Amino acid sequence: MLQLDHLTKRYATLTALDGVSLRIGRGEFFGLLGPNGAGKSTLMSLVAGLRAPDAGAILLDGRPLTAANSAARTALGLVPQSIALYDDLSAEQNLRIFGELYGLRGAELRARVAEALEAVQLADRRRDLVKTFSGGMQRRLNLVAALLHRPKLLLCDEPTVGVDPQSRNAIFDFLSARAREGLTVIYSTHYMEEATRLCSRIGIIDHGKILSLGTLDELLTPLPFEEEIRFPATPGTAVLGERLRGQGGLTAVDGTLRFRPRADTRLSAFFALTESLGLPPRLFTSQRPTLEALFLHLTGRNLRE
Ligand SMILES: Nc1ncnc2c1ncn2[C@@H]1O[C@H](COP(=O)(O)OP(=O)(O)O)[C@@H](O)[C@H]1O
Ligand SMILES: [Mg+2]
Repeated sequence: MLQLDHLTKRYATLTALDGVSLRIGRGEFFGLLGPNGAGKSTLMSLVAGLRAPDAGAILLDGRPLTAANSAARTALGLVPQSIALYDDLSAEQNLRIFGELYGLRGAELRARVAEALEAVQLADRRRDLVKTFSGGMQRRLNLVAALLHRPKLLLCDEPTVGVDPQSRNAIFDFLSARAREGLTVIYSTHYMEEATRLCSRIGIIDHGKILSLGTLDELLTPLPFEEEIRFPATPGTAVLGERLRGQGGLTAVDGTLRFRPRADTRLSAFFALTESLGLPPRLFTSQRPTLEALFLHLTGRNLRE
């Protein structure tokens, strides 16, 4: 549905987007995961046509998406990172303005505004001024404003920043339901939990480059699981401690011996050793790596500053 070819955007000497190529299929819930300054909003603004790329092309259904191609633009909806609503107008008035901008009128406009307010549980607040709304309520309104004209591709730029957990869940549920109905979503975030929970495919972005791309499983498969094995302190664990010295990851905590195998540790050999010493492990945990761990692995830095 959407194809980005070697997309590049510079601000003076800074390359905010550095030759990004990407294909997003119809009905995908695509996550763009990266820290602040990675280039997420720049990518969104190029796709939304708010800025022109310095190089590269954007194709929607195989057709170039240029400023002149306004018909294609109506296929897109943008939920901008900073809330774009009129503070001194009511929720309903705001939605009417957005609808009218997309050419909706009369009964159809009224019906869609009502439906949108209902969808994000703001119907009973429709006549209240937006400036009296909580951050989460404004976010929810900002979200449905981008969908009034029923775009087939929705660009959501960090839609949950500064949102209470309840509104956050409402936003997740709303977007997941729309995605199940066939809406294609590009969702940017610096929260790995959101990418993990929502997205069918994830692109990890940093310094304007896509570093890794795939489903959660595909992304995390190359990373080792993190195992931890604990033993109660007995005379035998002292022997075990001796045997494992130099292998790293060995600590004594709360009277128990804790061993964190490295990626190259053979667990079968390890358990054969503990068996021969007559040491029953008290606790064995094996944890799947996270997107945070992947980001650290790829960049040497954390996702969050
Ligand atoms: N209008 C602008 N002028 C100059 N630099 C900008 C502008 N917008 C963004 N940048 C810079 O481009 C880089 C990418 O920014 P942005 O796309 O907003 O990242 P993100 O949305 O991932 O936080 C950052 O280094 C940012 O400071
Ligand atoms: Mg941004």
